[in-house]
Amino acid sequence: MKRTKVKSLLNEKATGQEICVKGWVRTRRGSKHVSFIALNDGSTINNIQVVAEGDHFEEGLIKRITTGSAISVIGILVESKGGGQNVEVLAAAIEILGDADADEYPLQPKKHSLEFLREKAHLRFRTNTFSAVFRIRHALTFAVHKFFNDKGFSNIHTPIITGVDAEGAGEMFQVINFDLENIPTQNGKIDYTQDFFGSKTNLTVSGQLEAELGALALGQVYTFGPTFRSENSNTSRHLSEFWMIEPEVAFADLEENMDLAEEFLKYCIQYCITNCVDDLKFLDDRLSNEEKNLKKEARSDMGLLERLQFVIENDFERLTYREAIDILRNSKPNKKKKFNYIIEGFGSDLQSEHERYLVERKFKKPVIITDYPKGIKAFYMKQNEDGETVRAMDILFPLIGEIVGGSQREEKLEKLSERMEAMDVCKEELWWYLETRKFGTCTHSGFGLGFERLIMFVTGMKNIRDVIPFPRTPQNAQF
Ligand code: 4AD
Ligand code: MG
Repeated sequence: MKRTKVKSLLNEKATGQEICVKGWVRTRRGSKHVSFIALNDGSTINNIQVVAEGDHFEEGLIKRITTGSAISVIGILVESKGGGQNVEVLAAAIEILGDADADEYPLQPKKHSLEFLREKAHLRFRTNTFSAVFRIRHALTFAVHKFFNDKGFSNIHTPIITGVDAEGAGEMFQVINFDLENIPTQNGKIDYTQDFFGSKTNLTVSGQLEAELGALALGQVYTFGPTFRSENSNTSRHLSEFWMIEPEVAFADLEENMDLAEEFLKYCIQYCITNCVDDLKFLDDRLSNEEKNLKKEARSDMGLLERLQFVIENDFERLTYREAIDILRNSKPNKKKKFNYIIEGFGSDLQSEHERYLVERKFKKPVIITDYPKGIKAFYMKQNEDGETVRAMDILFPLIGEIVGGSQREEKLEKLSERMEAMDVCKEELWWYLETRKFGTCTHSGFGLGFERLIMFVTGMKNIRDVIPFPRTPQNAQF
């Protein structure tokens, strides 16, 4: 008999029809005479209740229906007598597909800490919280593709192994295929011409430069792929392997770039509100329960769903870096030296404490900061007339900080070359990038959205390690 998924069963009208359902047992309770089994198959956060009457089943079989075991049930779908669910399955036959020894199975029907579950990443999908998070991660993936597809963008796959340091930050994992015991050298230096690719290669930190090549022919493109950064930042917002979405649009300036990013973020959030109601409600409750133990000041001023709705309904605040610096310099925490990094004036990089001040205390909504000093931004950004700033934009989100980084690109060959020389970016390696400025150059812009940071915002999860199935961070690449 073909199985019906729990999600559809819960929406069916119970007319005594015979059904088959398969899943993993969340809990079993009851007495010798009757057992109530909460069964979940991952199609929804909700369980279906299976009722097994004692007379029908051997005690030995019932005992094997423990938390974590996989079972198949054939039975009748009936209206539920108890509260909490409309329908339940009156079991006629139960088959144990896979036992889960109660003494060994690590997940018990009680609340486990997120830290504990990180060490059990192979099983944490089976908890309510993580199943909700990963269904939402999927929904967001789909929303990203739908948004750009509906707008006529082409998705391009940019290389994962590359010779390019797109951000010029040098935080790259090297890819080498040498026998490490016997690395060929020439004049005392490693001879990469003898390595697999015949040159020095690394894992990509961004697909932007290649995306620009696509945009300057296809008009509107986006990438959605894994990126790798070897920065040694063990924070709740950094991963060594994360996913990034990078649209790139020809003939678009910074203004249009910001409009696109704002529309895109709101679209993705709305998509989840529309399509992930049950999971979001669960996470909303989870968050407010978690915050019950906190002091009033430490609690969020909005619930999860309320915050998502708020972001969709309000325009993002847009201001320049200079304006942001003025606000920060005159802010209470700066004057009282409460910030770890005191803002002196133009040129200071914004730390996450400053970003959060602007978003959470000053404006209380998402903020887009533009026109940063050229010294703290990448070489490819369009230079402003003032000679000091570039057409950059960062989008800062409540509780997250920077979620998007982007810019209008420098389309003038001489200006770009000048900047590359000044910043010590190798022009010979990027000859192909420079050629786009030589042949048919034009205004164009793009941005990068950190996918996990968006998931953090939508799910309310506070640690980035809890929104990617298998996080890679310094000292950790298990699973
Ligand atoms: O600001 P970033 O470094 O920008 C770029 O890579 C550009 N090439 C994007 C572009 O213009 N096409 O990174 C973009 C976003 C950040 O705003 C942040 O959300 C995320 O990527 N990000 C990280 N997410 C998780 N872990 C890390 N280590 C991250 N580093 C950046
Ligand atoms: Mg950035």
